[in-house]
Amino acid sequence: MIQDKVNHKIPFEIFEKWFNEASNNSKIIEPSAMCLATSTLDNKPSSRMILLKKFDERGFCFYTNLTSRKGQELKQNPNVALCFYWGIFGRQVRIEGEIEPVSTAEADEYFASRRRESRIGAWASKQSQKMKNWQEFENRIKEMSEQFENQEVARPVFWSGFRVKPRAIEFWEEGDFRIHHRHLYEKTLDGWNVSEIYP
Ligand SMILES: Cc1cc2nc3c(=O)[nH]c(=O)nc-3n(C[C@H](O)[C@H](O)[C@H](O)COP(=O)(O)O)c2cc1C
Repeated sequence: MIQDKVNHKIPFEIFEKWFNEASNNSKIIEPSAMCLATSTLDNKPSSRMILLKKFDERGFCFYTNLTSRKGQELKQNPNVALCFYWGIFGRQVRIEGEIEPVSTAEADEYFASRRRESRIGAWASKQSQKMKNWQEFENRIKEMSEQFENQEVARPVFWSGFRVKPRAIEFWEEGDFRIHHRHLYEKTLDGWNVSEIYP
């Protein structure tokens, strides 16, 4: 343990610095890509890449179809883990915490910012369900496009977002000869504890 109480903003400020550096580097194609791990109640984990859409001191937000596999697992178990890797910088960030739904207003605002085709796609996709064939999906897209012709495409009730409220954030930075640096921030009642951990 190298410090006791740490200002509640610090891990978010480090994250913001690393995220901005990744976002400003043209070699990083998708700086906001992160791996989301979820788990069923009987402890069967699953993971997939998703996109970070917003973050602040409250947490890290993403959007998805609520009926998808991840959506079902999030309903059973709100505990999740996120992992970012920005290879050019030799940096990894791991976040663990619980999710809470974003507000209706936030979800509506983000959905409205998506391209019309993506909004139609959200309506047409039964994310993670087996399809009979590709044609079935194309037909659904066509149907939805007709249904919304000359109309705004509102957010479906089965599509929204979550905020991961972190209880731990670990920053990993590559060092020579595998002597990497790791700093683990753990949430306390009034701030964060930071520890340096072995690589
Ligand atoms: C780089 C990348 C970003 C992605 N972003 C999202 C996302 O923000 N939301 C989402 O629902 N799926 C996203 N996907 C698709 C997911 O990886 C996954 O296929 C889908 O959400 C279904 O996952 P599930 O069956 O575990 O629910 C993304 C995939 C990749 C490769």
